[in-house]
Amino acid sequence: MADWSTVGHSTRAVHAGQEPDPVTGAVVPPLVLASTFAQDGVGVPRSAFEYARSGNPTRAAFESALAALESPGAAAVGLAFASGLAASDTLLRTVLRPGDHVVLADDVYGGTYRLLSTSYRDWGVATDQVDPTDLDAVRAAIQPGRTRLVWVETPSNPLLTVSDVAALAELAHAAGALVAVDNTFATPVLQQPLALGADVVVHSVTKYLGGHSDLVAGALVAPQGELAGLLATNQNSLGAIAAPFDSWLAMRGLRTLGVRMAAHCAGATAVAQWLAERDDVAEVRYPGLASTPGHAVAATQMAGFGGMVTFRPVGGPQAARAVAEATEVFTLAESLGGVESLIEVPAAMTHLSSAASRRPVPHDLVRLSVGVEDVADLIADLDQALAAARG
Ligand SMILES: Cc1ncc(COP(=O)(O)O)c(C=O)c1O
Repeated sequence: MADWSTVGHSTRAVHAGQEPDPVTGAVVPPLVLASTFAQDGVGVPRSAFEYARSGNPTRAAFESALAALESPGAAAVGLAFASGLAASDTLLRTVLRPGDHVVLADDVYGGTYRLLSTSYRDWGVATDQVDPTDLDAVRAAIQPGRTRLVWVETPSNPLLTVSDVAALAELAHAAGALVAVDNTFATPVLQQPLALGADVVVHSVTKYLGGHSDLVAGALVAPQGELAGLLATNQNSLGAIAAPFDSWLAMRGLRTLGVRMAAHCAGATAVAQWLAERDDVAEVRYPGLASTPGHAVAATQMAGFGGMVTFRPVGGPQAARAVAEATEVFTLAESLGGVESLIEVPAAMTHLSSAASRRPVPHDLVRLSVGVEDVADLIADLDQALAAARG
């Protein structure tokens, strides 16, 4: 087997964990649907697999491919789940105990906020939200001995806040806390939080990793060691695993992740620059724009600025809704990270549950997931939608 740790990202995405099938030579890892595996004697499994909740060859191939992408320089363990939130829940249940405290970035995905602020609160876990870019505020929020976890999402959904992972890891580790980074928006092609000091990476595989809006799955990646072992045990104990077909689709998505992210970055850069020039747009956020807070950190931490852009049209929430309802190439829909461009109004759609959070999403914010269509068509579509919203 070749050493995929020394090759470039796109090569790794195509090959790591995806060796041709040793039996048939198939260049695509097979989709194994079996729920159970023959044993050659009592308690003598024929291979590494016994029962598919504990391990399935297709899921294992995706998990090792993802681990190789997130952590090319050091051994890591990838674990695939039924959804991003199932991955998050398994992580939280593994590291938290009643009485523990979590420092949560104040603009994480609404579902992550809801999980911690409702289910985990009811189990005696306290959560404080902070601005993750204010390191003094993070330091002040951490309760040494009680804070078990600092959780950030960078860039965040949907405000595109960029957190300095290395600085946060230093702060958290000094107080004995772990750092979880939701890397859904950046993907390992653009950002590798484990190399920056994070203890565990969280993914909604549903988004860029899958890349085609045709699966729901999640993942955790942690360096080989005690935490990874506990997470793997709980993946089996709690049972919220990714199905074989979803794992197979996700692995197919990984193979084109390099080229897709390059296209998403190019398209989003062009769209953001075009929006930034307009009089009918009050504010544009894209980590690649010098005017967006966090641009300097993103430039050092990321190898590209991603495919997500947000803007606030002049005219407030009504204009935001009107733009989102007028596009034709951008589909009005929740989710993100697929090849097709999507548009939504987070405060009224994906982030309804963030209304009670410390930093609610503004009602006039429009979120774009810039796909891989021709940029000229995307810009023409936004142009007509903004004109329609002006009336
Ligand atoms: C940044 C981020 N993390 C986690 C999730 C949750 O993932 P899933 O919907 O796959 O459960 C989402 C979903 O939108 C997300 O955007």
